[in-house]
Amino acid sequence: MNQEAQAAVPIITIEQAGAHAGGTVTIRGWLYNLRESGKLLFPIFRDGTGIMQGVVSQKEHLEVFGALKGLPQESSVIATGAIRAEARAPGGFEMGVSAIEVVQRVADAEPYPIQLKEHGVDFLLDRRHLWIRTPRQAAILRIRAEAERAARNFMDAQGYTLTDAPIFTPAACEGTTTLFEVNYIDEQKAYLTQSGQLYVEALAAALGKVYTFGPTFRAEKSKTRRHLTEFWMLEPEAAYAHLEDMIQLAEGLVSAVVQSVVKNRTRELEMIERDVASLQKIKPPFPRITYDDAIKVLQKAGNPTKWGDDFGGDEETIISKEFDRPVVIHRYPAAMKAFYMATDAARPELSLSFDMIAPEGYGEIIGGGERLADYDTLVRRLREHNLPEESFQWYLDLRRYGSVPHAGFGLGLERTVAWICGTEHIREVIPFPRMLYRVYP
Ligand code: 4AD
Ligand code: MG
Repeated sequence: MNQEAQAAVPIITIEQAGAHAGGTVTIRGWLYNLRESGKLLFPIFRDGTGIMQGVVSQKEHLEVFGALKGLPQESSVIATGAIRAEARAPGGFEMGVSAIEVVQRVADAEPYPIQLKEHGVDFLLDRRHLWIRTPRQAAILRIRAEAERAARNFMDAQGYTLTDAPIFTPAACEGTTTLFEVNYIDEQKAYLTQSGQLYVEALAAALGKVYTFGPTFRAEKSKTRRHLTEFWMLEPEAAYAHLEDMIQLAEGLVSAVVQSVVKNRTRELEMIERDVASLQKIKPPFPRITYDDAIKVLQKAGNPTKWGDDFGGDEETIISKEFDRPVVIHRYPAAMKAFYMATDAARPELSLSFDMIAPEGYGEIIGGGERLADYDTLVRRLREHNLPEESFQWYLDLRRYGSVPHAGFGLGLERTVAWICGTEHIREVIPFPRMLYRVYP
C-alpha cells in the first residue's frame, strides 16, 4: 500500500469492526493466536476491545505471510486489511490482512508464559499482570467498569453527591477482628478503613444525600470464593432516611447496574458465556423476608441454624435458592450487628438492618440499615463493644449537634460483579486481587 492510501485508512478498535464491513481499516494490538495451514495463516488479533481473526494467503501477500509466520504469541502488531462478515469467526468479522507491522517481536527463547490451554489458577494468579490480557479476563474487567459507571450514574441521578472517605482511620468500624493496623507517622497507629460509613454519616449531615465509592480493607482470615482483603464498596448515606428508603434505593441501584451491563456489555457477556435471561429478570421490587422467617426457611431445609445465629455462605445459598432475584433479609438480631445499628422500637432485640443476598449462591452483596441517632444509646453501645471512646468523639459529635434519623448501606462491588459475570471466585473481577496469602503481583 502506498503512503497516501495508508494515510486514508481509519484506525479502529476491534469492537468497531462491524461498522466497517467492506472497508479497509487498521487495528493496533497483539497477536493472540496463530493457526498455520499450509499456504494460509489465520492470526487472531486482540486489542482489549475484542478478538478478530485475520486471513493471510502466501500467494497474495508474500511479505505479510513472511512477517507473521512463526510470530510468537503476544508479539505486538499493527494490522491493516479489508473487513468482511464471517459467521464462523469469533465476533462475526474477519480481516483479510494486507499489511502488518510488528511493533515488538516476543523472543523465541522466552515465549509468553500463558498458553491457550488450561492453566491452574495459582499459575495464573502469579501471572495476573499477563492473565488480564486473555479475552475472558478483559471482558470481565470491562463489565466491572460498566458496573461502576452505571452505579455512579444511578446515584447521581437520585441526587446523591459523591464524596470520598479517608483510607487511614483512627478506629474500627466493622469490628476489631478484621482490622489492618498501619504504622503511621511518629509511632502513631492508624488502621486501613473497613468501611467509609462513619465518615459518610458526617457528610450526610453536611450535604444531605451522599455516597462514597472506594477501596476498603478487611484482614479476613477466610479463604472463600467471596472474600478479598481489599475490595471496593459503594456506600450511600442519607439524612432523614429510614430502613425502608434504603431498601428501595438498594433495589433500584442493583437493578440499574445489572440492566446497564446487559444493555451496554452484551458482547462481553456473550464472550464469557453468561446466561443473560437470568439477569434480565433483575427488576424491582425484590422479594423480602424478615430474619425470623429466614430462620424458618433454613430450619425447614434441615439447616441447624437457630434464632440469634449469623448466616454464613451456606445459609445464604439456601435462602437465595428460593428466589430468582436478589432477596432482602431485614431486621437481624441487634446482638449480631455492628454497634451503630438502630433498633426496632416495636421489638428492641431487633436491629433496623438489612442484607441483600444475590441469587445463584453469590451471597451477601449489600449490608446496611438505619443508624443509632441517640447520643446516650450510642455511648452505651460503644462501651458494650469495647471500642475506644476517645477515637469516636468526632462521631459522637454527630449526635451532639443536630442528630437526625439517617440510614445507608454498603454494596460490595466485586461480589456484585462476580454474580453478574457468573465467575466462580471474586478474585477474577478485580484487576489485582488481594487475598489471604496473596499480595503479588
Ligand atoms: O456488610 P458489611 O460489612 O457492611 C459495612 O461495612 C457497612 N458499614 C456498610 C454501610 O452500611 N455503609 O459490608 C458491605 C458489603 C458486603 O455486603 C459485601 O458485599 C462486601 O461489602 N464485603 C466484601 N466483599 C469482598 N470481600 C470481603 N472480605 C468483604 N466484606 C464485605
Ligand atoms: Mg454484612
